[in-house]
Amino acid sequence: MPEPLLSVRHLTKTYPARRGQKLIAVNDVSFSIDRGEAFGLVGESGCGKSTIARLIMGLEKADSGEICLDGENLLSLRETQRRPHRPRYQMVFQDAASSLNPRRRVRDLIRDPMVEHHILSGDALNARVDALLSMVGLHPDMAQRYPHEFSGGQKQRLCIARALSLNPELLVLDEPVSALDVSIQAQILNLLRDLQKQLHLTYLFIGHGLGAVRYVCDRIAVMYMGRIMESGDSETLFSSPMHPYTLALADASPSADIRLRGRARIALRGEMEDVPQTGCPLYHRCPAAEEACQTRSTALEEIAPGHWTACRRARLLREETNA
Ligand SMILES: Nc1ncnc2c1ncn2[C@@H]1O[C@H](COP(=O)(O)OP(=O)(O)OP(=O)(O)O)[C@@H](O)[C@H]1O
Ligand SMILES: [Mg+2]
Repeated sequence: MPEPLLSVRHLTKTYPARRGQKLIAVNDVSFSIDRGEAFGLVGESGCGKSTIARLIMGLEKADSGEICLDGENLLSLRETQRRPHRPRYQMVFQDAASSLNPRRRVRDLIRDPMVEHHILSGDALNARVDALLSMVGLHPDMAQRYPHEFSGGQKQRLCIARALSLNPELLVLDEPVSALDVSIQAQILNLLRDLQKQLHLTYLFIGHGLGAVRYVCDRIAVMYMGRIMESGDSETLFSSPMHPYTLALADASPSADIRLRGRARIALRGEMEDVPQTGCPLYHRCPAAEEACQTRSTALEEIAPGHWTACRRARLLREETNA
């Protein structure tokens, strides 16, 4: 088996919280993404998705764990050792407008990373900017303009072009379409899918709902309160989720053409703040919870090939069905 391009192991990140307590934003998270694969992270606001993205990009420091690129643990590298790897992983943010300096022309915005990393110069650099603009569906003449002259969708295209300028292997896409009009979202999702195929890119694609993420991703992990609750290939998670939390997310997804196989629709009770200290973090909100869920371990277990769940009830149900 080839080494995954990205492998995240036991990643944990805490922030200081009120009364000297700690907020565990990312709690012992592990996943890996093969080269050329699109992997999705979904979950409610505050579940730790962007924190994972920032940790991978080196924008924040992890408490513990590993982030390996091609087998090399980036977290064990000093800044100077990490720098040569930087062009290999690039990020696209949700808020395209604020990640584009309004005072710089598009040509400069896209050139900047290449100049910084000494990739191309002179005419070759300009030709590369033109090619990148075409690649994301913008006319090369637009290079003379300023970001405010572009629509929301076009601004996100610019961010994608800039992220691609260094020929990255991995793109970390943190809710790249969430801020866009629904009609524009599909265009950008299509562009991302096309680029992934064309350039053989690897994606970590972050989203709120299962719909958009499923459209782009081969595999998905569902997060809750800093932990992965369920993971598997996109179709399986969408059409036969086993974790009550994934079921709730799928129900909330506006484009869910979900076949719930006779299950009752579930709605989560309470708020995300009600986090039990032991057992399942979803315990207080889960309609399927029983006494034992409060105390028993919720480590992820593989219930079918490639399909992992952290719900003990889902596992029991599966065993009964298979028996
Ligand atoms: N710099 C910080 N200081 C303190 N707490 C933080 C910080 N950054 C994030 N958090 C907290 O960590 C948790 C995870 O935040 P994160 O931004 O990763 O969530 P998210 O899943 O990306 O949410 P959203 O969908 O809203 O973008 C949240 O409770 C958030 O309040
Ligand atoms: Mg976020």
